[in-house]
Amino acid sequence: MLVFAVSDKGGTGRSVTSSNIVYRTALNGRDVCYLDFDFGSPTAGTVFQIEKLVTGLPGTGLHSYLQGRTDNPFSVDVWAESEGDTLRRQPPGSGRLELYPGDRDGGEFSTSDDTVDRCADLFLSLEEQFDVVLVDLSAGRSYAVETVLAATAAQQLQHVTYRWLVFHRWTHQHIRAAHNLVFGDRGILSAGKAQDHDESELRRSIRFIRTAVVQPSSASLSGLRPEQLAWLENCNNSLQTLAGRLGLGRTSLLGSVPLEPLLQFREQLISDYDVRQRRTANQETIDAFKDLAAKLHDDRAWEAL
Ligand SMILES: Nc1ncnc2c1ncn2[C@@H]1O[C@H](COP(=O)(O)OP(=O)(O)OP(=O)(O)O)[C@@H](O)[C@H]1O
Ligand SMILES: [Mg+2]
Repeated sequence: MLVFAVSDKGGTGRSVTSSNIVYRTALNGRDVCYLDFDFGSPTAGTVFQIEKLVTGLPGTGLHSYLQGRTDNPFSVDVWAESEGDTLRRQPPGSGRLELYPGDRDGGEFSTSDDTVDRCADLFLSLEEQFDVVLVDLSAGRSYAVETVLAATAAQQLQHVTYRWLVFHRWTHQHIRAAHNLVFGDRGILSAGKAQDHDESELRRSIRFIRTAVVQPSSASLSGLRPEQLAWLENCNNSLQTLAGRLGLGRTSLLGSVPLEPLLQFREQLISDYDVRQRRTANQETIDAFKDLAAKLHDDRAWEAL
């Protein structure tokens, strides 16, 4: 399965949430890989705690592969190379967890037929080796989005299952932006149609994920004044109405991740150890990641709307 992680805005939690989804999927025993297609800002090494990749890779990363400078993009085994103390050893029963970084100092580059062919070849080959291939795309209507829409329309990928995860924060601005990214004039649906995708099939492959959501009923808000709580409740209701009206409501929602204090200070994978022994992260956060990981493979979550 190919999974594309997108957002209209930057800083939505797309990379951190999708990294935690692939981590949970690997812990469940599936083989997964994470491709850093955020070409303008290759930083995936941070979340997986691999110091030498924090700003990308000198030479043979995904930029070099897609632009034809190498035929074998470099990948690392996260279980073997991560400096994170709870990631360093592969837990018994878990699957492979590999990271394909971008190039250090790599920037956005425009799409060519050759780039699309190389991208389709890579997806095909990785899809045969891994249960989930998660592709973290640049924010907005980027060349990266254009490239993968063209690649997934290619003949050789016709039989491959692909899914789109659209990340957004729980605010008016983010809800409108996520709506435009999918349904707008130059959005994923219209760009996909221009690449010969079947619009209804593409639509069925798209679900939204709300990140860093504060629930007005959350215990963490117990110190707020009644006026603040009432105001939050009102805002939340108006966001629910807006999301429903713009096609981001309950039926197209894959899930929500609560605001996690630890993630506000550091981009990282959250392990069970962080929650149970260190007690530095909340159980609700990993429950949300587990739920999203499970829903990736739950066809009922992807039934026609
Ligand atoms: N559930 C959450 N609660 C609190 N903070 C979060 C949550 N999810 C992500 N964050 C934090 O929000 C910031 C942005 O997250 P992240 O880098 O994943 O976003 P992004 O959409 O990939 O951004 P970019 O467009 O820059 O690549 C990070 O500091 C991250 O740790
Ligand atoms: Mg990111």
